[in-house]
Amino acid sequence: MTGPPVEVAAGRAEELPAGTVRLLEAAGRRVAVGNAGGRLFALDDTCLHRGGSLACGHLDGEVLVCPMHWWRYDVRSGRRLGQPGLAVASYPVRVVDGEVLVTVTPAPPPRSWREILLDHAREGTAR
Ligand code: FES
Repeated sequence: MTGPPVEVAAGRAEELPAGTVRLLEAAGRRVAVGNAGGRLFALDDTCLHRGGSLACGHLDGEVLVCPMHWWRYDVRSGRRLGQPGLAVASYPVRVVDGEVLVTVTPAPPPRSWREILLDHAREGTAR
């Protein structure tokens, strides 16, 4: 269960020039916020391959490239190029009075060890 989306400040627009990506930590999530040739975007930071930080990646036009093994994501949608069924979450971005604002859906609360073990036990009895 997650709460309603929250709008969080990601810094001044002039501090995010074209070709840059930075990490935003908000609402329990890690978000890669960047500027691809004037198009501001916000994608989930965690690469779907092996968890590389997309905020540490580089931009190739409107494509964000993971620094680990070069998976490529369309900044407009979060979809992986060549495999559009795979996508990282994409969050709305707007600029108000020079401030970059990102609307983030809060992450669900972490599960306790008790919940993890109970789920594991249920899976074992379902077989
Ligand atoms: S972790 Fe991103 S491409 Fe492997």
